[in-house]
Amino acid sequence: MVCMLAAVNSSGGMCSSRVLSILGALLIAGIIQLAAGDTPANCLYEDVRGTWTFMETERLGSHNIDCDTLGAIVHVKNFTLAFPDIATDELSNAGTWTMIYNQGFEININQRSYFAFLYYETGENSVTSYCGHTFTGWSRDKTVRNWSCFNATKTTEVPPRTTKRLTRMDLVQPYKNDPALVQKINKVQRSWRAKEYPELEKFTTGEVQRRGGSVWPDLQSLPVPAPATAEQKARVALLPNSFDWRNVSGVNYVSPVRNQGSCGSCYAFASMANLESQVRIATQNQRQDVFSPQDVVSCSMLAQGCLGGFDYLIAGRYAQDQGVVAEECNTYTGKEDSCNTNLSCPRTYVSAYKHVGGYYGACNEEVMLEALVETGPISVSFMVYDDFHNYDGGIYHYTGLRNEFNPFEITNHVVLVVGYGADEDTGEKYWIVKNSWGNQWGEDGFFRIRRGNDECSLESMAVQVTIIP
Ligand SMILES: *[C@@H]1O[C@H](CO)[C@@H](O)[C@H](O)[C@H]1NC(C)=O
Ligand SMILES: *[C@@H]1O[C@H](CO)[C@@H](O)[C@H](O)[C@H]1NC(C)=O
Ligand SMILES: *[C@@H]1O[C@H](CO)[C@@H](O)[C@H](O)[C@H]1NC(C)=O
Ligand SMILES: *[C@@H]1O[C@H](CO)[C@@H](O)[C@H](O)[C@H]1NC(C)=O
Ligand SMILES: *[C@@H]1O[C@H](CO)[C@@H](O)[C@H](O)[C@H]1NC(C)=O
Repeated sequence: MVCMLAAVNSSGGMCSSRVLSILGALLIAGIIQLAAGDTPANCLYEDVRGTWTFMETERLGSHNIDCDTLGAIVHVKNFTLAFPDIATDELSNAGTWTMIYNQGFEININQRSYFAFLYYETGENSVTSYCGHTFTGWSRDKTVRNWSCFNATKTTEVPPRTTKRLTRMDLVQPYKNDPALVQKINKVQRSWRAKEYPELEKFTTGEVQRRGGSVWPDLQSLPVPAPATAEQKARVALLPNSFDWRNVSGVNYVSPVRNQGSCGSCYAFASMANLESQVRIATQNQRQDVFSPQDVVSCSMLAQGCLGGFDYLIAGRYAQDQGVVAEECNTYTGKEDSCNTNLSCPRTYVSAYKHVGGYYGACNEEVMLEALVETGPISVSFMVYDDFHNYDGGIYHYTGLRNEFNPFEITNHVVLVVGYGADEDTGEKYWIVKNSWGNQWGEDGFFRIRRGNDECSLESMAVQVTIIP
């Protein structure tokens, strides 16, 4: 995911109480704008597990189907979603299902695929999630034909869940570097170096925060990595000690680093970067596409434009359903422009996509290492804390230090893991990760981050795709 909107769990501990006091101060100062209407649901796996009744329209639509309104119901089906990822219908036909963070779920069964966002309503200061209902979603067959619309309702009652919500904080004051923070980071540890980025001062604080991803309603509910099995460990023991898709026997399969600007489009950049590497690997660099994140920001129903989205739904489902286009078919503006992609442009599709490990909740270091080496770069989500914005180089870990000048909330950022290794002197293990903050940031636009301890939740939900080159 991700890069979604700001609602903060009232029981969110350190983060929220700090944010609330800052919000109070800002409200008094009158310098924030509150934007409504875009705070997402907060639904748990346990809410969604169980039996659902699906009401579906006739299966005659194209990929352009408009599911804003549902239409006449032709198919009524019951699907049961069971642990860990097993879906069955009334006739015991089996398929699979997965959560998409706490926002929606996807089912693949009976040669069809269904996706919908979970239903919520926003109030002035809260969002109420109705986790036993969906918004109208999209269904199509395995070959991406015969589209229909559907909604789904759980057969058992799920109590509504109200989450306190800050609404979105558009922090309008200019971003200001915090030299004391940089000094402290460099003093308390030697693993990574921090520096000031004067160029960030052209952004507002809200824009810098949005570059770091979306604020999730319940940061406590991130999945914990699954324990590695003996088989997973045995397979990983056969992998090299280090690997880098930027240099596989001298060949680079990673496209150039880009800059998302002030739009919360990290998920689109990470998704396009994922697909770009996959095309390079599949064609041995005969094709070196750069794909259009603006097409996603402006045109995809599966994301929230500059307010966030999920790599699973973009590198995965959108690229399978609609395909992606070259950058020049809808050049990046970093704004939520209306959709004006050149329809004559050829589109590139994926044939398959999944959460690394198989489903949401099955991720860990071992399955990531294996997917990375065997299938190419994988996109991941991780928590961005204040100190990360000042990363200059080295192996990042969260120092616990806060920026006194800029009241950031913890955000969730989507990026692309392209390699791994370990420091020769200290043995500290790391991932090598491509960011979308330009190549002046970090290590030529990349960063390294501690590996093996789910640092900033980076090992909790990775996504891999298979391209059709
Ligand atoms: C799929 O769509 C075609 C028309 O596009 C239609 O003829 C066919 O009956 C549909 N199949 C199903 C199973 O609805
Ligand atoms: C689906 O489940 C509901 C509630 O258990 C039941 O009333 C209904 O008959 C089922 N529908 C089908 C098509 O099996
Ligand atoms: C789903 O669609 C049916 C048929 O249009 C409608 O009766 C029902 O209220 C809808 N459910 C929800 C939760 O919107
Ligand atoms: C690629 O890796 C090899 C072996 O580690 C190294 O000798 C070479 O300098 C690297 N090439 C680039 C372009 O970094
Ligand atoms: C749209 O794309 C086609 C095919 O790539 C190209 O020939 C045409 O010039 C493009 N049109 C515009 C307005 O860019």
